[in-house]
Amino acid sequence: MAKDINKKAFDDATKLKLEIFRECFKEWLPVFIHSPFVEKVFIYDFFAGSGIDSENNHGSPLILLDEAKGEDQMFCSKVPKGRVVFGYNEKIESKRTLLETNVTNHLTECLSNCGRSECVYNVGYGSFDFKEVFERPTVSTILNNPKYGKFILLDQYGFKEVDNDVFKKLTESPRTDFIFFISSSFIRRFKEHPYILKYFETNRINFDESKPKECHKYVANYFRTLIPKNTEFYLHQFTIKKGSNYYGLIFGTGHTLGMEKFLKVCWDKDKLSGESNFSMYNDYQPNTLFYTETNTVRINDYKDQLKKAILTRKISNNLDGMKHALLNGVPTRAYIEVIEEIKDKIEIVGKFNKKITNIHRLKESDIYQIKTK
Ligand SMILES: C[S@@+](CC[C@H](N)C(=O)[O-])C[C@H]1O[C@@H](n2cnc3c(N)ncnc32)[C@H](O)[C@@H]1O
Repeated sequence: MAKDINKKAFDDATKLKLEIFRECFKEWLPVFIHSPFVEKVFIYDFFAGSGIDSENNHGSPLILLDEAKGEDQMFCSKVPKGRVVFGYNEKIESKRTLLETNVTNHLTECLSNCGRSECVYNVGYGSFDFKEVFERPTVSTILNNPKYGKFILLDQYGFKEVDNDVFKKLTESPRTDFIFFISSSFIRRFKEHPYILKYFETNRINFDESKPKECHKYVANYFRTLIPKNTEFYLHQFTIKKGSNYYGLIFGTGHTLGMEKFLKVCWDKDKLSGESNFSMYNDYQPNTLFYTETNTVRINDYKDQLKKAILTRKISNNLDGMKHALLNGVPTRAYIEVIEEIKDKIEIVGKFNKKITNIHRLKESDIYQIKTK
Protein backbone atom coordinates (compact mmCIF):
# COMPACT_ATOMS: atom_id res chain seq x y z
CA MET A 1 0.00 0.00 0.00
CA ALA A 2 1.30 3.49 -0.84
CA LYS A 3 2.55 5.54 2.07
CA ASP A 4 0.27 8.42 3.08
CA ILE A 5 1.73 11.53 1.45
CA ASN A 6 0.00 13.84 3.97
CA LYS A 7 1.48 12.18 7.06
CA LYS A 8 5.01 13.55 6.61
CA ALA A 9 6.50 16.77 5.30
CA PHE A 10 6.25 17.14 1.52
CA ASP A 11 9.66 16.47 -0.06
CA ASP A 12 11.19 18.71 -2.72
CA ALA A 13 9.81 16.68 -5.62
CA THR A 14 6.29 16.90 -4.17
CA LYS A 15 6.74 20.62 -3.58
CA LEU A 16 7.73 21.09 -7.21
CA LYS A 17 4.73 19.08 -8.36
CA LEU A 18 2.44 21.25 -6.19
CA GLU A 19 4.09 24.41 -7.46
CA ILE A 20 3.35 23.35 -11.04
CA PHE A 21 -0.27 22.58 -10.10
CA ARG A 22 -0.44 26.04 -8.53
CA GLU A 23 1.08 27.90 -11.47
CA CYS A 24 -0.96 25.95 -13.97
CA PHE A 25 -4.24 26.70 -12.17
CA LYS A 26 -3.26 30.34 -11.66
CA GLU A 27 -2.89 30.69 -15.44
CA TRP A 28 -6.04 28.72 -16.15
CA LEU A 29 -8.65 30.24 -13.82
CA PRO A 30 -8.80 33.85 -15.11
CA VAL A 31 -9.26 32.63 -18.68
CA PHE A 32 -12.35 30.69 -17.67
CA ILE A 33 -13.90 33.07 -15.17
CA HIS A 34 -13.57 35.97 -17.59
CA SER A 35 -14.91 34.10 -20.60
CA PRO A 36 -18.42 35.19 -21.67
CA PHE A 37 -18.86 31.72 -23.23
CA VAL A 38 -18.42 29.86 -19.94
CA GLU A 39 -21.51 29.64 -17.72
CA LYS A 40 -19.98 27.73 -14.84
CA VAL A 41 -16.54 26.57 -13.80
CA PHE A 42 -15.82 23.23 -12.17
CA ILE A 43 -12.52 22.39 -10.54
CA TYR A 44 -12.16 18.73 -9.65
CA ASP A 45 -9.36 17.43 -7.46
CA PHE A 46 -10.11 13.70 -7.60
CA PHE A 47 -7.25 12.57 -5.33
CA ALA A 48 -7.41 15.43 -2.90
CA GLY A 49 -5.70 14.02 0.20
CA SER A 50 -6.30 15.71 3.54
CA GLY A 51 -5.24 19.22 2.51
CA ILE A 52 -1.98 19.68 4.42
CA ASP A 53 1.25 17.84 5.25
CA SER A 54 2.72 17.21 8.72
CA GLU A 55 4.15 20.75 8.72
CA ASN A 56 0.92 22.44 7.64
CA ASN A 57 2.15 23.03 4.10
CA HIS A 58 -0.79 23.28 1.74
CA GLY A 59 -1.66 20.33 -0.46
CA SER A 60 -3.48 20.69 -3.77
CA PRO A 61 -7.03 21.42 -2.45
CA LEU A 62 -5.92 24.40 -0.38
CA ILE A 63 -3.52 25.58 -3.06
CA LEU A 64 -6.39 25.70 -5.55
CA LEU A 65 -8.63 27.65 -3.17
CA ASP A 66 -5.83 30.01 -2.31
CA GLU A 67 -5.12 30.77 -5.97
CA ALA A 68 -8.82 31.18 -6.68
CA LYS A 69 -8.88 34.38 -4.61
CA GLY A 70 -6.47 36.10 -6.97
CA GLU A 71 -4.17 38.90 -5.94
CA ASP A 72 -6.09 41.36 -3.71
CA GLN A 73 -9.19 39.17 -4.19
CA MET A 74 -9.11 40.09 -7.84
CA PHE A 75 -11.04 36.96 -8.84
CA CYS A 76 -13.38 36.09 -5.99
CA SER A 77 -14.61 39.68 -5.60
CA LYS A 78 -15.96 39.58 -9.18
CA VAL A 79 -17.42 36.08 -9.34
CA PRO A 80 -21.11 35.58 -8.56
CA LYS A 81 -21.88 33.03 -5.84
CA GLY A 82 -22.09 29.49 -7.18
CA ARG A 83 -20.50 30.12 -10.58
CA VAL A 84 -17.29 28.37 -9.56
CA VAL A 85 -17.50 24.95 -7.94
CA PHE A 86 -14.70 22.94 -6.36
CA GLY A 87 -15.22 19.17 -6.16
CA TYR A 88 -12.83 17.39 -3.81
CA ASN A 89 -12.70 13.63 -3.72
CA GLU A 90 -10.66 11.52 -1.35
CA LYS A 91 -11.28 7.80 -1.08
CA ILE A 92 -10.24 7.37 2.54
CA GLU A 93 -13.07 8.62 4.78
CA SER A 94 -10.83 9.77 7.62
CA LYS A 95 -8.71 11.80 5.20
CA ARG A 96 -11.85 13.25 3.62
CA THR A 97 -13.11 14.34 7.04
CA LEU A 98 -9.76 15.94 7.80
CA LEU A 99 -9.86 17.65 4.44
CA GLU A 100 -13.27 19.19 5.22
CA THR A 101 -11.92 20.51 8.52
CA ASN A 102 -8.81 21.94 6.85
CA VAL A 103 -10.81 23.58 4.06
CA THR A 104 -13.34 25.01 6.55
CA ASN A 105 -10.51 26.48 8.66
CA HIS A 106 -8.90 27.89 5.55
CA LEU A 107 -12.14 29.50 4.36
CA THR A 108 -12.95 30.85 7.82
CA GLU A 109 -9.61 32.63 7.91
CA CYS A 110 -10.07 33.81 4.36
CA LEU A 111 -13.56 35.20 5.15
CA SER A 112 -12.22 37.05 8.19
CA ASN A 113 -10.01 38.98 5.76
CA CYS A 114 -12.60 39.68 3.08
CA GLY A 115 -15.53 40.51 5.34
CA ARG A 116 -18.14 38.41 3.48
CA SER A 117 -20.39 36.08 5.44
CA GLU A 118 -19.87 33.24 3.00
CA CYS A 119 -17.41 32.34 0.31
CA VAL A 120 -18.49 32.91 -3.31
CA TYR A 121 -17.02 29.55 -4.20
CA ASN A 122 -18.94 26.33 -3.60
CA VAL A 123 -16.94 23.40 -2.28
CA GLY A 124 -18.31 19.84 -2.39
CA TYR A 125 -16.72 16.67 -1.06
CA GLY A 126 -16.84 13.01 -1.97
CA SER A 127 -15.27 9.90 -0.56
CA PHE A 128 -15.35 7.58 -3.54
CA ASP A 129 -13.06 5.41 -5.49
CA PHE A 130 -11.93 7.59 -8.39
CA LYS A 131 -13.21 5.37 -11.20
CA GLU A 132 -16.62 5.18 -9.54
CA VAL A 133 -17.03 8.93 -9.15
CA PHE A 134 -15.56 9.64 -12.59
CA GLU A 135 -18.21 7.42 -14.17
CA ARG A 136 -21.10 8.99 -12.26
CA PRO A 137 -23.77 10.55 -14.50
CA THR A 138 -23.53 13.90 -12.68
CA VAL A 139 -19.79 14.12 -13.36
CA SER A 140 -20.18 12.89 -16.94
CA THR A 141 -22.92 15.46 -17.61
CA ILE A 142 -20.68 18.25 -16.36
CA LEU A 143 -17.71 16.97 -18.36
CA ASN A 144 -19.81 16.79 -21.51
CA ASN A 145 -21.28 20.28 -21.18
CA PRO A 146 -19.47 22.66 -23.58
CA LYS A 147 -20.74 25.69 -21.64
CA TYR A 148 -18.86 24.60 -18.51
CA GLY A 149 -15.12 25.12 -18.05
CA LYS A 150 -13.42 22.21 -16.27
CA PHE A 151 -10.03 21.91 -14.61
CA ILE A 152 -9.24 18.34 -13.62
CA LEU A 153 -6.43 17.46 -11.24
CA LEU A 154 -5.49 13.80 -10.96
CA ASP A 155 -2.78 13.44 -8.35
CA GLN A 156 -2.83 9.66 -8.23
CA TYR A 157 -0.37 7.46 -6.43
CA GLY A 158 1.52 5.40 -9.00
CA PHE A 159 0.04 4.98 -12.46
CA LYS A 160 -3.10 2.84 -12.63
CA GLU A 161 -5.96 5.31 -12.22
CA VAL A 162 -5.45 7.34 -15.39
CA ASP A 163 -5.73 4.53 -17.91
CA ASN A 164 -6.64 4.58 -21.60
CA ASP A 165 -10.38 4.99 -20.97
CA VAL A 166 -10.01 7.80 -18.46
CA PHE A 167 -7.57 9.58 -20.72
CA LYS A 168 -9.87 9.25 -23.74
CA LYS A 169 -12.85 10.54 -21.79
CA LEU A 170 -10.85 13.55 -20.65
CA THR A 171 -9.62 14.40 -24.14
CA GLU A 172 -13.12 14.06 -25.57
CA SER A 173 -14.70 16.36 -22.95
CA PRO A 174 -15.19 19.89 -24.28
CA ARG A 175 -13.57 22.86 -22.48
CA THR A 176 -11.72 20.47 -20.20
CA ASP A 177 -8.07 20.89 -19.28
CA PHE A 178 -6.40 18.30 -17.10
CA ILE A 179 -3.14 17.56 -15.39
CA PHE A 180 -2.12 14.23 -13.95
CA PHE A 181 0.76 12.72 -12.07
CA ILE A 182 2.25 9.38 -13.10
CA SER A 183 5.15 7.21 -11.93
CA SER A 184 6.84 6.66 -15.27
CA SER A 185 9.96 4.90 -13.93
CA PHE A 186 7.71 2.24 -12.49
CA ILE A 187 6.00 1.62 -15.83
CA ARG A 188 9.39 1.36 -17.56
CA ARG A 189 10.87 -0.96 -14.96
CA PHE A 190 7.93 -3.35 -14.86
CA LYS A 191 6.66 -2.91 -18.41
CA GLU A 192 6.36 -6.64 -19.01
CA HIS A 193 4.65 -7.43 -15.73
CA PRO A 194 1.00 -8.52 -16.11
CA TYR A 195 0.03 -5.93 -13.49
CA ILE A 196 1.25 -3.12 -15.76
CA LEU A 197 -0.08 -4.80 -18.90
CA LYS A 198 -3.55 -4.65 -17.38
CA TYR A 199 -3.45 -0.88 -17.76
CA PHE A 200 -1.08 -0.07 -20.62
CA GLU A 201 -0.16 -1.61 -23.94
CA THR A 202 3.49 -1.24 -23.09
CA ASN A 203 4.56 -2.75 -26.42
CA ARG A 204 3.42 0.61 -27.82
CA ILE A 205 5.71 2.57 -25.50
CA ASN A 206 9.05 2.96 -27.21
CA PHE A 207 11.27 3.25 -24.14
CA ASP A 208 14.86 3.94 -25.12
CA GLU A 209 16.61 1.75 -22.57
CA SER A 210 19.80 3.76 -22.89
CA LYS A 211 17.92 6.88 -21.72
CA PRO A 212 15.97 6.06 -18.55
CA LYS A 213 15.77 9.77 -17.78
CA GLU A 214 13.54 10.20 -20.81
CA CYS A 215 11.04 7.53 -19.74
CA HIS A 216 8.32 10.02 -18.77
CA LYS A 217 8.50 11.53 -22.24
CA TYR A 218 7.89 8.09 -23.76
CA VAL A 219 4.93 7.56 -21.43
CA ALA A 220 3.53 10.93 -22.56
CA ASN A 221 4.07 9.86 -26.18
CA TYR A 222 2.04 6.73 -25.48
CA PHE A 223 -0.86 8.94 -24.35
CA ARG A 224 -0.39 11.02 -27.51
CA THR A 225 -1.07 7.90 -29.57
CA LEU A 226 -4.50 7.65 -27.90
CA ILE A 227 -5.61 10.99 -29.34
CA PRO A 228 -7.62 10.33 -32.49
CA LYS A 229 -5.93 11.44 -35.72
CA ASN A 230 -7.12 14.83 -37.02
CA THR A 231 -8.14 15.92 -33.51
CA GLU A 232 -6.49 19.14 -32.42
CA PHE A 233 -5.30 18.36 -28.92
CA TYR A 234 -2.20 19.46 -27.05
CA LEU A 235 -0.23 17.48 -24.47
CA HIS A 236 2.93 18.38 -22.65
CA GLN A 237 4.89 16.56 -19.99
CA PHE A 238 7.16 17.65 -17.17
CA THR A 239 9.55 15.08 -15.68
CA ILE A 240 10.37 15.21 -11.98
CA LYS A 241 13.44 13.29 -10.84
CA LYS A 242 13.44 12.06 -7.29
CA GLY A 243 16.46 9.99 -6.32
CA SER A 244 16.96 7.55 -9.18
CA ASN A 245 13.27 7.58 -10.13
CA TYR A 246 11.43 9.62 -12.71
CA TYR A 247 7.89 10.75 -12.12
CA GLY A 248 6.04 13.36 -13.99
CA LEU A 249 3.07 15.43 -14.90
CA ILE A 250 1.10 15.34 -18.10
CA PHE A 251 -1.10 18.30 -19.04
CA GLY A 252 -3.74 18.16 -21.73
CA THR A 253 -5.90 20.78 -23.43
CA GLY A 254 -7.88 21.13 -26.62
CA HIS A 255 -7.07 24.83 -26.87
CA THR A 256 -3.94 26.62 -28.02
CA LEU A 257 -4.26 29.14 -25.18
CA GLY A 258 -4.22 26.32 -22.61
CA MET A 259 -0.96 25.07 -24.05
CA GLU A 260 0.54 28.56 -24.39
CA LYS A 261 -0.07 29.01 -20.68
CA PHE A 262 1.14 25.61 -19.55
CA LEU A 263 4.33 25.97 -21.58
CA LYS A 264 4.95 29.31 -19.90
CA VAL A 265 4.83 27.54 -16.53
CA CYS A 266 7.17 24.74 -17.68
CA TRP A 267 9.71 26.97 -19.46
CA ASP A 268 9.82 29.27 -16.42
CA LYS A 269 10.79 26.23 -14.34
CA ASP A 270 13.20 24.74 -16.88
CA LYS A 271 14.80 27.31 -19.17
CA LEU A 272 16.76 24.65 -21.08
CA SER A 273 14.07 22.29 -22.26
CA GLY A 274 10.80 23.24 -20.53
CA GLU A 275 10.26 19.68 -19.44
CA SER A 276 12.22 18.59 -16.37
CA ASN A 277 13.83 19.45 -13.04
CA PHE A 278 17.25 18.27 -14.29
CA SER A 279 19.29 18.55 -17.47
CA MET A 280 17.40 16.34 -19.89
CA TYR A 281 19.64 16.92 -22.92
CA ASN A 282 23.05 17.53 -21.31
CA ASP A 283 23.12 21.27 -21.90
CA TYR A 284 25.80 23.45 -20.36
CA GLN A 285 24.62 24.31 -16.88
CA PRO A 286 23.92 27.79 -15.48
CA ASN A 287 27.08 29.47 -14.12
CA THR A 288 29.33 27.57 -16.55
CA LEU A 289 31.22 29.21 -19.41
CA PHE A 290 29.13 28.09 -22.38
CA TYR A 291 25.71 28.29 -20.71
CA THR A 292 23.01 29.87 -22.83
CA GLU A 293 19.26 29.97 -22.46
CA THR A 294 18.61 30.70 -26.10
CA ASN A 295 20.51 27.99 -27.96
CA THR A 296 19.81 24.93 -25.89
CA VAL A 297 19.91 21.43 -27.34
CA ARG A 298 16.12 21.14 -27.16
CA ILE A 299 15.46 24.53 -28.75
CA ASN A 300 18.00 23.96 -31.52
CA ASP A 301 16.70 20.47 -32.26
CA TYR A 302 13.17 21.73 -32.40
CA LYS A 303 14.08 24.68 -34.62
CA ASP A 304 15.78 22.31 -37.09
CA GLN A 305 12.61 20.22 -37.14
CA LEU A 306 10.42 23.27 -37.80
CA LYS A 307 12.76 24.62 -40.49
CA LYS A 308 12.57 21.31 -42.29
CA ALA A 309 8.76 21.27 -42.03
CA ILE A 310 8.57 24.78 -43.54
CA LEU A 311 11.15 24.19 -46.26
CA THR A 312 9.47 20.95 -47.33
CA ARG A 313 6.12 22.82 -47.36
CA LYS A 314 4.51 20.73 -44.68
CA ILE A 315 3.83 24.02 -42.91
CA SER A 316 2.76 26.91 -45.05
CA ASN A 317 1.39 29.61 -42.76
CA ASN A 318 2.22 31.29 -39.45
CA LEU A 319 -0.72 29.84 -37.52
CA ASP A 320 0.24 26.27 -38.40
CA GLY A 321 3.87 27.07 -37.60
CA MET A 322 2.97 28.21 -34.10
CA LYS A 323 0.61 25.29 -33.52
CA HIS A 324 3.47 23.00 -34.52
CA ALA A 325 5.60 24.60 -31.78
CA LEU A 326 2.84 24.11 -29.19
CA LEU A 327 2.34 20.48 -30.23
CA ASN A 328 6.05 19.95 -29.68
CA GLY A 329 6.16 21.60 -26.25
CA VAL A 330 8.09 24.66 -27.40
CA PRO A 331 6.99 28.30 -26.95
CA THR A 332 5.74 30.00 -30.10
CA ARG A 333 8.65 32.48 -30.11
CA ALA A 334 10.73 29.63 -31.63
CA TYR A 335 8.59 29.97 -34.74
CA ILE A 336 9.53 33.64 -35.24
CA GLU A 337 13.20 32.85 -34.66
CA VAL A 338 13.04 30.17 -37.34
CA ILE A 339 11.42 32.56 -39.82
CA GLU A 340 14.23 35.07 -39.19
CA GLU A 341 16.82 32.35 -39.71
CA ILE A 342 15.40 31.12 -43.03
CA LYS A 343 14.18 34.45 -44.40
CA ASP A 344 16.47 34.15 -47.46
CA LYS A 345 14.85 30.87 -48.41
CA ILE A 346 11.20 31.86 -48.08
CA GLU A 347 8.75 34.43 -49.31
CA ILE A 348 5.93 35.79 -47.12
CA VAL A 349 2.62 36.21 -48.89
CA GLY A 350 0.43 38.60 -46.93
CA LYS A 351 1.37 41.05 -44.21
CA PHE A 352 4.15 39.74 -41.95
CA ASN A 353 3.59 40.15 -38.18
CA LYS A 354 5.24 38.91 -35.03
CA LYS A 355 2.10 38.01 -33.09
CA ILE A 356 3.01 34.94 -31.03
CA THR A 357 0.60 34.95 -28.07
CA ASN A 358 -3.15 34.38 -27.93
CA ILE A 359 -2.84 32.79 -31.33
CA HIS A 360 -6.52 31.73 -31.21
CA ARG A 361 -7.31 35.42 -31.60
CA LEU A 362 -5.40 35.83 -34.86
CA LYS A 363 -7.65 37.40 -37.45
CA GLU A 364 -7.70 36.18 -41.02
CA SER A 365 -5.64 39.25 -41.96
CA ASP A 366 -3.00 38.22 -39.39
CA ILE A 367 -2.45 34.88 -41.07
CA TYR A 368 0.12 34.96 -43.84
CA GLN A 369 1.35 32.28 -46.21
CA ILE A 370 4.93 31.09 -46.39
CA LYS A 371 6.28 30.05 -49.76
CA THR A 372 9.70 28.55 -50.40
CA LYS A 373 11.95 30.20 -53.00
C1 LIG B 1 -0.77 11.70 -3.99
S1 LIG B 1 -2.04 11.74 -2.82
C2 LIG B 1 -2.80 13.29 -3.13
C3 LIG B 1 -2.17 14.40 -2.44
C4 LIG B 1 -2.86 15.71 -2.62
N1 LIG B 1 -3.02 16.07 -4.02
C5 LIG B 1 -2.06 16.77 -1.90
O1 LIG B 1 -1.52 17.66 -2.59
O2 LIG B 1 -1.98 16.69 -0.68
C6 LIG B 1 -3.22 10.65 -3.44
C7 LIG B 1 -4.48 10.59 -2.61
O3 LIG B 1 -5.44 9.83 -3.31
C8 LIG B 1 -6.11 8.95 -2.43
N2 LIG B 1 -6.50 7.79 -3.25
C9 LIG B 1 -5.78 6.71 -3.56
N3 LIG B 1 -6.45 5.91 -4.40
C10 LIG B 1 -7.63 6.52 -4.64
C11 LIG B 1 -8.75 6.20 -5.44
N4 LIG B 1 -8.78 5.10 -6.16
N5 LIG B 1 -9.77 7.07 -5.48
C12 LIG B 1 -9.74 8.22 -4.78
N6 LIG B 1 -8.72 8.57 -3.98
C13 LIG B 1 -7.67 7.73 -3.90
C14 LIG B 1 -5.09 8.62 -1.37
O4 LIG B 1 -5.71 8.27 -0.15
C15 LIG B 1 -4.29 9.91 -1.26
O5 LIG B 1 -4.76 10.73 -0.26
